[in-house]
This record gives sequence, C-alpha cells and structure tokens, in this order.
Amino acid sequence: MNIIKLDAIDSTNSYIKKLSNEIAIESYTVVVANHQTKGRGQLGTSWLSKKGKNLTFSVLIKFKDFKVQNQFYLSMAVSLGILASIKNGISSPLKIKWPNDILSVNNKVAGILIENILRGNFIKQSVIGVGLNVHQKIFPENIENVTSLKNISGNNYDMDALLRHLIKMIKFYIRYIEKKEFKTLKNLYINSLYNYNKPTMFKDKKGKVFLGKIIDISESGRLVVELENKKTCKFNLKEIKFASN
Ligand code: BTN
Repeated sequence: MNIIKLDAIDSTNSYIKKLSNEIAIESYTVVVANHQTKGRGQLGTSWLSKKGKNLTFSVLIKFKDFKVQNQFYLSMAVSLGILASIKNGISSPLKIKWPNDILSVNNKVAGILIENILRGNFIKQSVIGVGLNVHQKIFPENIENVTSLKNISGNNYDMDALLRHLIKMIKFYIRYIEKKEFKTLKNLYINSLYNYNKPTMFKDKKGKVFLGKIIDISESGRLVVELENKKTCKFNLKEIKFASN
C-alpha cells in the first residue's frame, strides 16, 4: 500500500488530485494528513478536525469500466467499507446516513467527499476523501450531532493500523463495482441505512418540514421517500435534509 504522510496540507483531496495531474500514481495511493488547513466537506462546506486527533485522508482509485450513471455505487461501497472497518469494539448501532455520513446513533463519526475524474461517460479516477473522528473528545459548540470512535467505545486506536484497515475494507466493497454486482451492493447499503422505512422528519430546500419514510434509493442515488399521502418523491442532495440534524 502506497501511503504518503503529510504533516499539514490545505486538503488531502486537493493534494492528491493535483499530484495525479503531475505524475502517474498507482491506484489506491493514499494521502493522509496530520492537519488540514482547508479541509473540504460536501456541498462546499468545510471539514474541521483537531490536529493529530483524527484521520483525514484521501485515496485515489482508478477504474477501467465504470459508467458515470453508476456513480452512486461508489458512495455505497465507501460507506460500507468505513462502517465495516470501525465496527469492532462498538456495541451501539452504526448506520449510514444518506448519502454517505457514518453515524453512531444520531451522531456523525465520519464524512466522505468523493470527487470523480471523468472521460466521456466513464469515471476514470475517483478521489475518495474521508474524515473520521477518532480521538477528538470535544467539538466546537456550533457543530452539533458529532462524535468520535473514542467517545463511542472509550478505546484508543492505532491510527496507522486503522487507516490500513479502512483502505482494505473500502477496496473489498469496491470489488462489487468492478464485478458489476450492483444489486448486492445496494442491498448491503439499504440494510445499513439510517432510518430506512421509519417515519422521519425532513426539511425541503425552502425549509418546509415534512414527514416521510425512506423506501428506496434510485438508480442515480436519489433518496426515494414515501410521503404521508402515500405519494413517492425522489430527492437529490440539494433538495432534502433530515430535520433533526
Ligand atoms: C462531509 O461530510 O461533508 C465530507 C467530509 C470529508 C472530509 C475529508 S477529510 C479528508 C479529505 N480532504 C478534504 O478536504 N475533505 C475530505
């Protein structure tokens, strides 16, 4: 495994993207940073992580035959890989909050930022950025519903071993994409999905709160929600939020 360790960098995702433009790097090359000065989250948010306490890393994966239309399977595979690699020693339920946050009960323990490099209708390379809260005990007051592995299990972690295990498990689930076993991947994802089939309060993009139930994930990765009047609606990431967090 090719792991590049950095003390400080703006963002490991930005770094590995730039590196792959400059030199040929192998699939599954990993960049991990002790500290990110400009960590990036989904939808243009920032990712804050206390120096030296957590894992912030990116892995570059190359694909031979992966259609853009199947891109959500990558979110599924990465989420499942993270879930599988952190569940040892944790008795509380760990779930995937659509699209790809990892939760312990209602609190986020890891976030994923995937950036794809396309050629035509194909994903040629993906940069998978993962922020996993490991030893951080206290979080800024303005960040709600967040936790760390240490807060959940009370354990201390060997960060190097944990990183290697994460990559191994991400690779394991990415094999389902390479073998085009999309149905299996989706079933595994749905089985670990937070609030699947449960009455849940959502917020739409205008801030209106409504009750619904997640009943499926569409081919393109949209959240399929059954409303109170039994009508079904599909939402993308910008169109819906969980009202609780
Ligand atoms: C989110 O939940 O909003 C996604 C957070 C992703 C954070 C990780 S930390 C390592 C990598 N580099 C970044 O700048 N972002 C991702």
